[in-house]
Amino acid sequence: MHCEILWKILSLIVITSKEVRTFEVKIKVSIKIQIIPKNNPWSYIVKWGVSLVEIEIKKNNKEKYMQLDRVIERYKQQEGMLIRILQKAQEIFGHLPIEVQSYVSDRLDIPISTVNGVVSFYSLFSEEPQGKYTINVCMGTACYVKGSQEILKTIEEELHIREGETTLDKLFTIKVTRCIGACGLAPVITINEKVYGRLSPSDIPGILHTYIKTNKKAAIGEEVKA
Ligand code: FES
Repeated sequence: MHCEILWKILSLIVITSKEVRTFEVKIKVSIKIQIIPKNNPWSYIVKWGVSLVEIEIKKNNKEKYMQLDRVIERYKQQEGMLIRILQKAQEIFGHLPIEVQSYVSDRLDIPISTVNGVVSFYSLFSEEPQGKYTINVCMGTACYVKGSQEILKTIEEELHIREGETTLDKLFTIKVTRCIGACGLAPVITINEKVYGRLSPSDIPGILHTYIKTNKKAAIGEEVKA
């Protein structure tokens, strides 16, 4: 007889010089049991062995789910609450993986297909981890006519990634969006909350460089503090 057991073991606490981090540890073991009859029909020898199959350690999201519970409690009675809750969930988790969507679906008693439909429809939601800075290139009519495709191409070339992708250092994600309501400034991009308008491709390297520089300074500041 052979069976595999998955144990979800408590939390592993790691204390670094800066902070305390908790991880969820899952251990999968395989148990082999052999029942061997002896010379008479009443007695047996039982042999058994345990071997480790897999060990999985991941960051504990318990605190994040508790935060999400508070958000759901706060917004669940309001009109248009699903989008609001998903926005907040994305702020908490950084993106909306299927586990988070399924959690929201259970809590609100809404089919997962409805939740996933909303997440897939709106470009502001992402099921994949995002970079620190999300660049949205507007492809609405006014921006398109004024050359947003060239802007997008320049950003892709500068960052060596395509639309929908994230740089390896997790700094930038490129997305395209519909009209963001700033047509007078076409062509427009946004980087997180900041809007850049009346752009030409030659503006792009300088803008991206500002973020790269700011991020480097922040990283050095962190090292100095440590
Ligand atoms: S079309 Fe780009 S802001 Fe309206």
